[in-house]
Amino acid sequence: MKKIIFMLKDIIEKALNKQIELEASSSQFYLSMASWTETKGLSGSSSFLYQHSDEERMHMLKLVKFINERGGNALIPALIQPPTTFKSLTHVFESLLEHELNVTESINNIVGLCLEEKDFTTHNFMQWYVAEQLEEEALARTILDRLNMIGNDKGGLYLFDRDLSKEIPQDEQV
Ligand code: FEO
Repeated sequence: MKKIIFMLKDIIEKALNKQIELEASSSQFYLSMASWTETKGLSGSSSFLYQHSDEERMHMLKLVKFINERGGNALIPALIQPPTTFKSLTHVFESLLEHELNVTESINNIVGLCLEEKDFTTHNFMQWYVAEQLEEEALARTILDRLNMIGNDKGGLYLFDRDLSKEIPQDEQV
């Protein structure tokens, strides 16, 4: 019996390849944040951000596999250097939230495109990303609220940094 393979439309493949680029840039950006916080002695924040960077790479890989398994060609993008210095830890997490909001917008655009193109398979696949963005945005907002509460209190910052490492599942700690 002939195997029916669901083929991606070019327009969807192009949008997913753009998302690969965005997830890769997220991973690089958070890696840079992790490195910066590590040099500032913020080891809890740094562990959290190293793990977050790994997660973004996993988001990218899921897209690579999806495109290739559906007869498309996943394109691995060139690396662009992200910002390497930050004004403060609050600046780090403000940048992270801003970046995640861009990612959410991009994912929502792909979901909309899938509906326009009646590509319900990719639409279904993208629901995982929709749910993930909700979680990531909520976490970034919670972290920022805590940081804003702490303000310039050094003791508070110490405890915040120590506690942030607890947000990482034990088997994913770097
Ligand atoms: Fe994969 Fe946080 O976007």
